[in-house]
Order: sequence, then structure tokens, then C-alpha cells
Amino acid sequence: MSQKKASDFRYNTGETKVPWAAVGENYNTEDIMALLGFLMQKKSEGYDEAFATVKKAVEELNKYGKPPGKLSLAGNVAELEEAAAKYLDTKYVSFITNATHGFEMALKYVNLGPGDEVIVPAITFAATMAYPLGVGAKVVFADVDPRTVNMDPKDVERKITKKTKAIIPVHIGGWPVDMDPIMELGKKHDIMVLEDAAHAFGGVYKGKKLGTIGDFGAFSFHEVKNVTSFGEGGLLVCTNAFGEYLPMERFCGLDFSRKIENWLYDVSALPGKYGWFAAGNYSSTEVQALGLIRQMGRIDAIIENRRKSAEYLTKRLSVNDAVIPQLLDTDEIKSTHHLYLLQVDPAKANGNIQILKKKLDDRGITNIPHFGPLYKFDVLKKLGYDTKAIEKSCPNTEEVFNNRFTHLPIYGLSKEQLDYMADTILESVAEMQEGK
Ligand SMILES: Cc1ncc(COP(=O)(O)O)c(C=O)c1O
Repeated sequence: MSQKKASDFRYNTGETKVPWAAVGENYNTEDIMALLGFLMQKKSEGYDEAFATVKKAVEELNKYGKPPGKLSLAGNVAELEEAAAKYLDTKYVSFITNATHGFEMALKYVNLGPGDEVIVPAITFAATMAYPLGVGAKVVFADVDPRTVNMDPKDVERKITKKTKAIIPVHIGGWPVDMDPIMELGKKHDIMVLEDAAHAFGGVYKGKKLGTIGDFGAFSFHEVKNVTSFGEGGLLVCTNAFGEYLPMERFCGLDFSRKIENWLYDVSALPGKYGWFAAGNYSSTEVQALGLIRQMGRIDAIIENRRKSAEYLTKRLSVNDAVIPQLLDTDEIKSTHHLYLLQVDPAKANGNIQILKKKLDDRGITNIPHFGPLYKFDVLKKLGYDTKAIEKSCPNTEEVFNNRFTHLPIYGLSKEQLDYMADTILESVAEMQEGK
């Protein structure tokens, strides 16, 4: 079951007299123009005439063109997966709906259910814990390393029990988690390591691409990520032999890259770590795959641009030691610079990050508020977690969240914008130091 080109399994009816069209209704010129009108919205005068000209051209093209035949799991998906496997230097990669579904697919491999435990970093996005909570497993929160806000391997070790089935390190903002000790713990205790690489496509830890170090790694191509597949999408990597089954797990136990010999027998359960389990449907579309192939081709240039912006900001912010700027790449560690981690030293700044965030907000600098302590989310209180006890077990998380860190956006910013950010941060911290 090696990675072959996906075939047009359903509608390849050959020379039969009554062809079986791929879809009942094909996209006509109006549909295509609606899509184009959505992707390229009106900004200024002249748009309506330009739109009419393009519509005429599309009508003309329609006379000579034909529909793609397949819109799901065919050539574009296969091409994307091949390109991603090459870029990541790994063997098994499947294009799926989103990273959260990637976590689900990986956690089904260990038959995660009630009574099992999963260790996640205390600070991440709610998606990291969604599937464990959904199936009634217990989510255990590891405290963070205050400098990177990533999972602290020492606290992971303290929180492992006989019930721990998975550890989910999250490369928050694209900054690599210290994976060596996490992998050692996984090996020592026979626990699956699943990388939440939602922010991390293209990042590197000690010569390996992020998302290819653990047993599984899931990337997100949601619209706010460094590259996107038209708004939603994900890639799931598996580094063990189960990777052979990813295409089957992606679609109801079927692998469309092979010829289906017998529908009854070829729809199968999958051999998980602890026994058979049933697949679901996590397929994404050919159109989304095409969008991602295009953007993925530009990923290194995109990261490089972000890296330069991060370097510039860090250099400018380093003049005041009350400001703790984003760490920069080293020979071993390469971030995707998805987010810029800004911290303050509250004693030196004469005030904490909450004061600075307000000042930045008032001056038009967006803070990204999505990444907070998961145990503060209402869902956990409703599910009966003892959130006060969890809070006590994560002292660094409390300190950095309440007093020290925020995330700033760092995409495609102009020199002017970067200077505005740096000037405003420095001026705001200086005001705090003066007691204003
Ligand atoms: C840290 C983290 N993990 C997981 C996800 C979920 O990714 P997706 O939207 O592709 O499911 C996100 C999404 O933003 C995220 O920030």
C-alpha cells in the first residue's frame, strides 16, 4: 500500500453506453464567477468592468474546457501529499480536513477512551484537547517553560501515570518544543507522542522537520496559518508502520489509491496499537489541495520573510531589558515564526503584560488572545475538572499568562509597520517604568 496516484475509482466507467458523470451538476460559468468574485472582492472603481471582461473570457473558455471529473481524493491530493512528504522528508502524509481531525485520527490509533489520560501543555489552543475531552478521556496539563511558553518536559515526566496514552507537545507560535526528552519519555513509558504542529509547517528541530519527530504530527492550514488551503485543511504525518493505513483511515476504511477489488472486504477496520478500530471521513477536496500545492511552493520564502521581521523586532526591542523579545533561530532550532512571542519582566517594567497589552491595544497593535491556559476555559469547569488544583500544578503557566506574555502577528509586515510596533512597545514600556 505504498503511496500511489489516486485513481478515479468511482466513475471510470470506460466504454459503457451510459456514462456515470462524476457529479450530477457541473459548475457553470456563473458558479465559477461567483467563486472568483468571492476570492477577489471589489476594492475600487473599474472592478465591475474588469469582472465583466473576465466573465466573457470564462464563457469562452467554457466552450473548449470540460469539468475536472473528480473533486475529491484524486490527482491534486496525491500530488500535494507527494510534495509534502518530500518537503518534510518523511514517508506517510495524508491531506485531511484540519489539524483537529488529525489529532482524532492519531488518538484513535491508541483507542483513546474514558479512563485514559493525555498530557497536553497548559498553554495552547482549545483544539489540542477537543478530541480527548469529547471521548471522555482525562486531559492532564503540563506546565510550560516560561521562556518559550512550550510544554516543559520535566513537568510532563511528573504527570505521567499508568493511564497516560499520549503526550501532545505543541510547537506554539512555530517555536520547536524540546522534543528529545519528550521522545525519551514516550519510549521509556511506551506512550504515543503526537505533535500538534498546527503552527509549525516548515520548522526544524535538530535537523528534523517539526511534525515528523513524534509517532504522529498534524499540521493546520486554516486561514490564519502561514499558508492555507482555501481556509481549512490539514496534513497528518505518521512515522511508524501504521502510516501505510493513513489513506484508509482518512476515508471510511478505503484506500482510493488502490483498485477496490471487493467492496465488502476492502472496507476494513484498522489495526491500532491496542486492537482494531473503525475509520471515519476526514477527506479534503481537490480544490483545497490545489490551493495548498501553490502556497506550499512558497513556504520557505514566507518563513524567511517572517524570520527577518522577527530578527528586526528582536533587535529593536533589545535596548530595554524590561522587554523580553522572541528567541531567534539557531543552527539546531528553526521556527516558522508564525507568532511573535513578546514578554515583559514585570519587576523591571514596573508593571505586567496586562498593562502593556492595554497600551498596545489603545495604539492599534493587535494582540492575539487565543493561546491561554486551557484549564481556564469554561468547558473544563462544565466537565467537572478541579481547575483550582490544576492551576496550582502549573505555576509557570499562571505567572507567564497573568504577568508576562502576549503574542503579536508577524506576517508580511512592512518596515514601517515593524517600526511602529517596536516604537510603540518601547514607548509604552518606558511609560510604565516612569509610573505612567
Ligand atoms: C495550537 C493549535 N492546535 C490546533 C489547532 C487546530 O487546527 P485546525 O483549525 O486545522 O483544526 C490550532 C488552530 O488554530 C492551533 O492554534
